[in-house]
Amino acid sequence: MEVPVHVSIIMDGNGRWAKARGRERVYGHVEGVESVRACTEAAVEAGVKYLSLYAFSEENWNRPEAEVNRLMELMMEAIRNEVKTLMDNGVRFVVLGNRGRLSDKLNAAIDNLMEMTAGCTRMTLVVFLSYSGKWDILQAMKRAAAEKGSDGVQDLEIGDFDRYLVTAGIPDPDLLIRTSGEQRISNYLLWQCAYTEFYFTDVLWPDFRKPEFRAALEAYASRDRRYGKVK
Ligand code: IPE
Ligand code: IPE
Ligand code: MG
Repeated sequence: MEVPVHVSIIMDGNGRWAKARGRERVYGHVEGVESVRACTEAAVEAGVKYLSLYAFSEENWNRPEAEVNRLMELMMEAIRNEVKTLMDNGVRFVVLGNRGRLSDKLNAAIDNLMEMTAGCTRMTLVVFLSYSGKWDILQAMKRAAAEKGSDGVQDLEIGDFDRYLVTAGIPDPDLLIRTSGEQRISNYLLWQCAYTEFYFTDVLWPDFRKPEFRAALEAYASRDRRYGKVK
């Protein structure tokens, strides 16, 4: 079976999962952390080299303050609890996004975990935090202009642009999974998903565990990627 090199997931449906159980939305986020753990394990087992997760979008800052705070707390807890598991499994941890909007405390914890797992080579786990695709393209354009000057920017090729995006060095996703039945990109990896295979499922994120992850890999294996050519 052909295994995708890079699997990306828009983890959606935590709030609806909790609501269906008569609980607060945050309960769904707590349960969602278990799905992150399960999918990370499943990805390592399958031989996936990059697993990336859309954990918090730039637009998610517009949610009620209490929910935003709880999500940031959960991130802190997960970072604290998962150090050993990540290291034992050879997983390098990377956070990408507009990190200037995160608290100093969270940024310090992220930096610490990134440094501790920097030498891990089995798989890279990328967590997108305070990320948006339009923001990424804009910051890339600004950095390219600052580095190359306005004349230099005129010579920029499509392939050169990749290294200004926050995902520089990471291959584009082969497979993008979105849970919870929504079929939209919600300002995620806009540039990087040019030829990505999409997989939509009605399963809500807290219910998306190893069997569901493996089913997505199987679906990917049956896709015919043509990249505009004739086969
Ligand atoms: C995904 O679940 C988690 C984040 C976006 C942070 P939601 O919180 O969006 O859950 P629904 O979509 O409202 O059910
Ligand atoms: C997308 O989910 C963002 C993340 C999963 C982090 P949302 O729940 O924020 O997306 P919309 O609002 O349904 O498009
Ligand atoms: Mg949602």
